[in-house]
Parts: sequence; structure tokens; C-alpha cells
Amino acid sequence: MNLIDAVHSRHAVKAYEGGRALPKQEVDALLTLLHNSPSSVNSQPWHFVMASTSAGRERIAKATTGAYEYNNPKVRNASHVIALCMRVDMDDAHLDALLEQESIDGRFKVPGSKETQDRGRRAYINMHRYERRDVPQWMEKQVYLALGGLLLGAAIQGIDATPMEGFDAAALDRELMLRDRGLTSVVLVSLGYRSEADFNADLPKSRLPQDELFTFI
Ligand SMILES: Cc1cc2nc3c(=O)[nH]c(=O)nc-3n(C[C@H](O)[C@H](O)[C@H](O)COP(=O)(O)O)c2cc1C
Repeated sequence: MNLIDAVHSRHAVKAYEGGRALPKQEVDALLTLLHNSPSSVNSQPWHFVMASTSAGRERIAKATTGAYEYNNPKVRNASHVIALCMRVDMDDAHLDALLEQESIDGRFKVPGSKETQDRGRRAYINMHRYERRDVPQWMEKQVYLALGGLLLGAAIQGIDATPMEGFDAAALDRELMLRDRGLTSVVLVSLGYRSEADFNADLPKSRLPQDELFTFI
């Protein structure tokens, strides 16, 4: 699907047809997309938990009860659900792992470039740690970039999707033992096939007028 068709045809799906699984190839393409998401100073401060089985979806669905019940069927009836998570800190071990991976991937062609990269990244992180004091928010922004890419990628592939902030993050962190791994959940995305009950499919899109949202200079 081309970009404009995808933009017009996608919407936040409100009901899924349970029991229908997306082809593995299409899901793998989305994993490749997430894996290659851009992030500031290549910090990759994320982790993605993918539920592709009924048992996996049920575990995520435990975080969509009570006030979040409205999202429960969107999790249980989807084909796949991805929990986009963020690190809670940008520690030395992670910075070392990033540098090592960049080295393995062959990015340091010029002598000294590895040290330059490490210094530059750490300077940037220290700016967020000490001057802006916004490391968590900064990491969370990177996760939302990945979310945007994922939603657009799904749309281009004609895959129905729902981004969801409506879930109990503390409950999901517990269920997936995320905090033991220095992670916390940020946003969920269900993927699958919309059902007849997806009322949003028949509603027109609503956006503020372009001239309110764009300034051309
Ligand atoms: C970060 C984010 C969180 C959202 N959370 C939910 C949610 O918990 N449940 C839901 O049904 N829709 C959720 N939505 C869908 C939005 O309501 C929807 O994207 C918006 O109304 C625009 O409509 P459209 O996506 O159909 O174009 C969320 C969207 C975003 C981007």
C-alpha cells in the first residue's frame, strides 16, 4: 500500500476478530522495523515484548481490567500484542553494550572513532542526566518514535492496529517481571484483523484543519 492510502485507511481498531493470526512474514517485517527504529545517539533504550499466543495475550490482558476493561478485548482478540517498554536508566552496562555492538557491526572504520562515539554519546546522556534532568522522559520519547514507526509500518502492510496507553503499567510490569530487568512498560499495540464490531471503521477521521496545524515559512 502506498503512503497516502495507508494514512487514509488506517485507524485505531476498536474490535478484533479473535482466533485469526497474522502471517508470520508480515509480523516479522514489523519486528525488523522495530529492531531498526532510530533513536537519539543510537541509545535504543527499549525492549519489546511480543505476545503471539493466547497464553501470552492473556498475560498482557491482566493489565487491562478495571478502569482499562475497555481495552481488554482488543488485547485478547488480537493476533499479536506488543508491549513497548523502556529502560528505567541509561547505565554503563547498556552504554558499553551499544558501543560493542556498533563495533561488531563495523561502524568504526577510522582509528579513534570508537572512543569519539563513546564520548559523544556519554556527553549527550550526561546533558540529559545533569542539565535537563530528563533521562526517563528522553528515553520514553524514543519509545514513542518506535511506536509511530510501528503504526505506520502496520498501516502500509494493511495490518489493523491499536495503540493503547489504557492499561495498568504497574500490573503489566509485575506480570512480565519487567522491573527485575530494569524495564517498565510504556504503551501496547494490538495487531490483527478488525471485526464487524469495530465501530471506528465506519467513522470518518477527524483532525483539526491543516491551516491550524501547519505553518509554512
Ligand atoms: C499513544 C496513544 C495511546 C492510545 N491509547 C488508546 C487506548 O488505550 N485505547 C484505544 O481504544 N485507543 C487508543 N488510542 C487511539 C487514539 O484514540 C486514536 O489514535 C485517535 O483518536 C486518532 O484516531 P485514529 O487513530 O483512528 O486516526 C491511542 C493512540 C495513541 C497514539
